[in-house]
Amino acid sequence: MVRRSCIVGVGSYLPAQVLTNKDLEARVDTTDEWITQRTGIRERHIAAEGEHTSDLALAAARQALERAGMPAQALDLIVLATTTPDHTFPATATKVQAALGMTGGAAFDVQAVCSGFIYALAVADNFIRSGQAKNALVIGAETFSRLLDWNDRTTCVLFGDGAGAVVLQAVEGEGTNDDRGVLSTHLHSDGRHYDLLWVDGGIALGRSGFVKMNGQEVFRHAVGRLAEVMEETLAFNGMDASQVDWLVPHQANRRIIDGAARKLKLSADKVVITVDRHGNTSAASIPLALAAAVDDGRIKTGDVVLMEAMGGGFTWGAALVRM
Ligand code: UT7
Repeated sequence: MVRRSCIVGVGSYLPAQVLTNKDLEARVDTTDEWITQRTGIRERHIAAEGEHTSDLALAAARQALERAGMPAQALDLIVLATTTPDHTFPATATKVQAALGMTGGAAFDVQAVCSGFIYALAVADNFIRSGQAKNALVIGAETFSRLLDWNDRTTCVLFGDGAGAVVLQAVEGEGTNDDRGVLSTHLHSDGRHYDLLWVDGGIALGRSGFVKMNGQEVFRHAVGRLAEVMEETLAFNGMDASQVDWLVPHQANRRIIDGAARKLKLSADKVVITVDRHGNTSAASIPLALAAAVDDGRIKTGDVVLMEAMGGGFTWGAALVRM
C-alpha cells in the first residue's frame, strides 16, 4: 500500500489595493506598453500598511481549510513558503498556527524565493509519504512589495503581494497513476548564481535591502531549467506532455511561461496565466494560480496538473499532481 498526499482544499487571498501599470507610469520612467509587452503584467495587488505576510497567509489558509471541510485542529503540519516573513524569527508559520487555533503538530517556514511553494509542497509531501504527518497545510505567502526599491524601474514593476494555500491529506492507494494525489516533486538549486537575483541586505549587513536582478541572465536560465525539470518530472512518471491537463507555472513573466511551455510542446490553452493580474508574487504565485483555475471550474478533480517554478539561488523545481 502506497501512502500519498492528496490536495483536498485550495485557498487564496489578494490584498484589496490594485496597482496598475498606469499608476506606475506616474512613479517611475516606464510605460504600460513596455511592461505589458516585456512581461505580460497589467496590474498587481499591494498589501495595505499594517497588513503583513501572516495576514495574507491566514486568509488563504482559512479558505483552503474551509473548502477541505477540515478543522484547523486536525492539522499536524504547516509549511509556509516566504521570502518576506513578518519577523526575522519566529517563523511566520507559527503565527498562522496560533491564529488558526492549532496547538499541536509542527509549523515552520521554507525559504526558496519564487520556488518556495514547490519546495514547501515537496517537504510536506515527504512528511506525509513517510508517515510523519497526516494533514498538512502548505502556504505560499509574500509581501514582496516591501522588498522593492520603488525608484528602480527594472524591478518595481514586476512584483506583487498575495497568498495561496493547499490542504494535503494522507491517502492510501495502490500507487498507480490513476490515484489522486501528489505524484512526484523534483527540486534543484545551483548556488553559483546567488548574485543574479538577490537582496542587497540582510542581518549580516544590518539593513533589509532591496531586490536586485540581472533580468536577462535570469530569463535565459529560467526557460532552459524549467523545460528540463518539467521533462524530468514527466519522465519520472512515465508520462508525456499530452497527458498533462493543466500547466500551473510560477508567474514571473509571460514570455518565460510561453517559452518553457513551447519547449515542452504544451498547447497554450492548457496553461493557467495570472501574471497579468497578479504580477510576480514569488512563493504565492502557483497556489494563487491554482486557486484561480479551481475556482473558475477549469481544473477539476482527476485532472493532471504540472507545476513549475524558478527563483533566486538559483532554485527551481516541479511537481506533478492528480487533483
Ligand atoms: O521569479 C523569478 C525571477 N524573475 C524572473 O524570472 C525575471 C526574469 N527576467 C525578465 O523577466 C526580464 O529580463 C525583464 C522583464 C526583467 C526585463 O525584460 P528584458 O526584455 O530582458 O529587458 P532588458 O533588461 O534587456 O531591458 C531592455 C530595455 C533597457 O533599456 P536599453 O538599455 O535598451 O536602453 C532597460 O533599461 O528596457 C529598459 N527597461 C525599462 N523600460 C521601461 C528596463 N525596465 C524598464 C521599465 N520600463 N520598467
